[in-house]
Amino acid sequence: MFFFGKRSQSVNMDKNTLPVHIAIFLDGNGRWASQRGLPRSAGHREGANNLKKIVRYSHEIGIKYLTVYAFSTENWSRPKDEVDALMSLLLEFLKNADKEIAGKNIKIKVIGDSNGLTEDIKKEIVRVTENTKNNNGLTLVIALNYGSRSEIVEMVRRIAIDVKKGGLNTDAINEQLVSNYLYTAGLPDPDLVIRPSGENRLSNFLLWQSSYAELWYSNILWPDFSKKDLLHAIEEYQRRNRRYGGVGK
Ligand code: IPE
Ligand code: IPE
Ligand code: MG
Repeated sequence: MFFFGKRSQSVNMDKNTLPVHIAIFLDGNGRWASQRGLPRSAGHREGANNLKKIVRYSHEIGIKYLTVYAFSTENWSRPKDEVDALMSLLLEFLKNADKEIAGKNIKIKVIGDSNGLTEDIKKEIVRVTENTKNNNGLTLVIALNYGSRSEIVEMVRRIAIDVKKGGLNTDAINEQLVSNYLYTAGLPDPDLVIRPSGENRLSNFLLWQSSYAELWYSNILWPDFSKKDLLHAIEEYQRRNRRYGGVGK
């Protein structure tokens, strides 16, 4: 049992049945800033600070994989100054990641189409991935220039190339093989997908991987999403009956 402030606010989370992999939309930064009369970029900065806090806490409570949706393939359609602000925050986040989070035995991976990113960011991704590859605590997966549909298209293209080259037989194409050709190869599927900010949609995030994920929505805007909110989401997840098409327990 975890206690926050007053006893009445306690959260009943079972340490033994934690979701192995949690995926979170970092959504609602813009509205958080607007509500305070601040520029949207101020919301993104606050969101990045909150991310550090939630990553450390997830590691502390024993979550093994945390995937965060930081920038989608559709987010390029935002005004240039907002895209620039997001990219410079992401660069800063990656630059400080070893010092601020990876030092805590956290492994960092980045998924998405790196071709669309600047050389600075690509360099930081290679550096931080290499520097943290032997860490064995939580794996933080940052979805950056990520879109499920483009990931699926890329998977099909790469499978077609391998078939054409003769190294892959079409009879070998099954669900496991498809998973191995996605950006998330080697990662377990998410058990729990959290979307703050009041939106109830998937916005092109982990469509294949979340086939049997439990979804948790909330109106809280990402910069306000607290440790306690994370525990509440986990607690509710633990009360659910995952049936996978069967009849359940
Ligand atoms: C952050 O929240 C998500 C990113 C694209 C980085 P938003 O910028 O989408 O915030 P809202 O949804 O407009 O409030
Ligand atoms: C999804 O949020 C992408 C990220 C959180 C990075 P958006 O704010 O881009 O999603 P929509 O536009 O509301 O669907
Ligand atoms: Mg949004």
